[in-house]
Amino acid sequence: MSSSRNPSEPQASRRAVAQIELASLLRPELEELRAYVPHDPPGIRVKLDANEAPPSSSPAVREAVERAVAGVALERYPDPRALRLKEAIARRTGARPDELLVGSGSDEVIALVLTALARPRERNPQPVVLMPAPTFVMYRVSARGHGHKPVEVPLDASWDLDAPTMKRAIEMMRPNVVFVASPNNPTGNRVDDARLRAVVEAATGVFTIVDEAYVDYAAEGSVRGWREEHPNLGVLRTVSKIGLAALRVGWLEADSALVAEIDKVRQPFNLSATSQAAAAAVLEDAWDDVLRDVARVVRARGELSAAVAEIDGFSVTPSSANFLWVKTPGSAEAVYDALVKEGVLVRSFHASGGRLGAQLRVTVGSDADNDALVGALRRAREVA
Ligand SMILES: Cc1ncc(COP(=O)(O)O)c(C=O)c1O
Repeated sequence: MSSSRNPSEPQASRRAVAQIELASLLRPELEELRAYVPHDPPGIRVKLDANEAPPSSSPAVREAVERAVAGVALERYPDPRALRLKEAIARRTGARPDELLVGSGSDEVIALVLTALARPRERNPQPVVLMPAPTFVMYRVSARGHGHKPVEVPLDASWDLDAPTMKRAIEMMRPNVVFVASPNNPTGNRVDDARLRAVVEAATGVFTIVDEAYVDYAAEGSVRGWREEHPNLGVLRTVSKIGLAALRVGWLEADSALVAEIDKVRQPFNLSATSQAAAAAVLEDAWDDVLRDVARVVRARGELSAAVAEIDGFSVTPSSANFLWVKTPGSAEAVYDALVKEGVLVRSFHASGGRLGAQLRVTVGSDADNDALVGALRRAREVA
């Protein structure tokens, strides 16, 4: 999903709940949350706002999904243990099935972690969740929704982890959970290994989750090998960014005993039988095709990045993900509006202000989509 939430949605629902005299029962945190509303302006023909992959160039992926779904017993509940899917994930990643917690996207897994690890530490009135900023918005939203206090540490000037401040925040705030996305959304860069290691090492007794939603696009690969040395480290993955967002399959790889505890708060049939079967089939039978698609996006990312950086006034942060973090000349809003007029949708951070006010996040799409974007950006530059 996109990292956007509609900031202007009125609190009309809260007032309506007050009329039926139930508003006092709502968690106070809900006052500052907004339901997820996709930015959906009319006339969009090129959708590059949600970090989705372009359609697969191989029929094998769709065929594997179709075969798997056709074989599902519709009258039966799904396997509550998701055994086949876990085995398929284990074979592709090197994890053991008992180290895996699968959910309806990583969004659900994040919620499960925060449901389970919710006991405040001594002298903390609420459990604390630590994260850099900007990053994937669901860490903060899910923290608020589960009664945790989110604490954000700004990324440094090159959008990398500010390890000394993260370490100080760990000491002072004593969080239950730390989230670090690497590659990070929305900045696209992989976090520096030494900095990440410093944070992981400082976070003793803290569940530290490295969210690798985009790791398939990063040359350096996963940090899951660090788990042996750091048993409090968890790695979050998803198939959403590699062409299978419709399935809603994500997973946590972590210490098996901790996984068993978190698993107690999971709804027994959280992942549909069709999603389990489809994801397992792709992992088993069409994984090479998925990786070829990923390689194609990585090639296109280089070309798109160079083409955007050539436009006067634009610059691009080196990306290890399937999207680009683009600095615009002046406010990102004018560029965003000009793109929308041409039917091209990207994600703008102008509403966040500050150093984010001149930033766009642009998904790497199909060749045709990328060409349309570059053309529209060039014309936007002429009017901006
Ligand atoms: C860093 C990061 N983690 C997780 C997700 C969500 O993944 P899923 O679709 O598996 O819920 C996203 C989606 O934008 C993301 O950017």
